[in-house]
Amino acid sequence: MSWAALLGLLLALLLLLLLLSRRRARRPGEPPLDLGSIPWLGHALEFGRDAASFLTRMKEKHGDIFTVLVGGRYVTVLLDPHSYDTVVWEQRTRLDFHPYAIFLMERIFDLQLPNFNPSEEKARMKPMLMHRDLQALTEATYTNLRTVLLGDSTEAAGGWRETGLLDFAYSSLLRAGYLTLYGVEATPRTSESQAQDRVHSADVFHTFRQLDLLLPKLARGSLSVGDKDHACSVKGRLWKLLSPAQLATRADRSSWLESYMRHLEEMGVSEDMQARALVLQLWATQGNMGPTAFWLLLFLLKNPEALEAVHEELKRVVWQAEQPVSQMPTLPQKVLDSMPVLDSALNETLRLTAAPFITREVMADLALPMADGREFSLRRGDRLLLFPFLSPQKDPEIYTEPEVFKYNRFLNPDGSEKKDFYKDGKRLKNYNMPWGAGHNQCLGKSYAINSIKQFVVLLLSHFELRLGSEDTEVPEFDLSRYGFGLMQPEEDVPIRYRVRL
Ligand SMILES: *[C@@H]1O[C@H](CO)[C@@H](O)[C@H](O)[C@H]1NC(C)=O
Repeated sequence: MSWAALLGLLLALLLLLLLLSRRRARRPGEPPLDLGSIPWLGHALEFGRDAASFLTRMKEKHGDIFTVLVGGRYVTVLLDPHSYDTVVWEQRTRLDFHPYAIFLMERIFDLQLPNFNPSEEKARMKPMLMHRDLQALTEATYTNLRTVLLGDSTEAAGGWRETGLLDFAYSSLLRAGYLTLYGVEATPRTSESQAQDRVHSADVFHTFRQLDLLLPKLARGSLSVGDKDHACSVKGRLWKLLSPAQLATRADRSSWLESYMRHLEEMGVSEDMQARALVLQLWATQGNMGPTAFWLLLFLLKNPEALEAVHEELKRVVWQAEQPVSQMPTLPQKVLDSMPVLDSALNETLRLTAAPFITREVMADLALPMADGREFSLRRGDRLLLFPFLSPQKDPEIYTEPEVFKYNRFLNPDGSEKKDFYKDGKRLKNYNMPWGAGHNQCLGKSYAINSIKQFVVLLLSHFELRLGSEDTEVPEFDLSRYGFGLMQPEEDVPIRYRVRL
């Protein structure tokens, strides 16, 4: 094509964009409207590059509610944590979270489920993760963490080993989580079967991780041609690894898996689609624990006082308990529930690094009541977005020095849990929202907390851990990951570790 023709085409395209985006005007009662300077795209580029900075800038300009144009969509952003509850509990006929979930499912995981109903699925899976079967999951996690972490440690006993902290934490937790939920090689476990478990789960982790790294680009549809080929082959491998036929051969599968697979069969989902759904679930259940443990351990290693406090607590609760941890088949829930210092450090870590979007489609014109008595009109077809990472989590009105990790931020001076945090002189109900809230509350919360705590306890009990060097810094965030859950670092952090003798 000649340059002139190309230029003509571009101009025509631009004209079309301009026509399509007859600029919308703010109506009385609506939130402040900010269209940006590029027709149709609006603020899409800035939003995709660094959502937190962009939304901070908009908040300074417009206050805690405003509407922005992002790639043809009008998105109303609400940043007042006092007003979140009305949104997260609103009925689906008014504010619906299903369409966005279904969109991401298709975009990232190529998954289409006929008659998919996220609410019904959640209700169904709840007992397997939260109540009835939690104890069994926690026990299996502990066993599998030991398989992964301690299995071949005897071979290298004594010597220092070098690795990246993210790779170490992420692979340990994901591999143990995979074995726990999707099953192991054989029961009863033998040393051969556990060696198999280590090799196979490492394969699953490395394949999964390649998809995980492409996730933000997949979600935005911004893969390069080379990325696309890579994504395709990685997905193909994962679908094979997690195919129903593969999983059928595994032992000691969780009740969660059994029940999820039955659910897929009842929906009439084909075997191919089942495999895709099982890959999605691997991400949903395992994609955030590893990064959380990474930040938690990094903050502890960078804050000797915090690490010491956690050590003291473990000494009291675990190491000097009647039965030493090395002989326990599992950490009982009672023990896991009596670690307020570790809890506070974990919650502080999540406050600083959990940045999911909470999204709703506006299904009908409606009035959104704010906690301070104001009311704003929302238009049908727009999207509503809450971003708890900015407020409450990083809000300087709620937390002094919000950028700083303070391990005891969620403890009172007497060591009990601190629950009173204020904004505008009013006590907050939602002051830390890493797990979402309302209809978005994470189902795997207890399972995840138990897994991370068991990982930290095992690690600190059996290993010495050091930063690669004295002046290792906390890395920057990979800014493309805002909205997807836990933030990940731009690059990994070198550490050394060795088995305690
Ligand atoms: C930490 O957060 C969890 C989950 O929201 C909560 O159950 C726990 O009480 C919190 N503990 C502390 C000390 O902050």
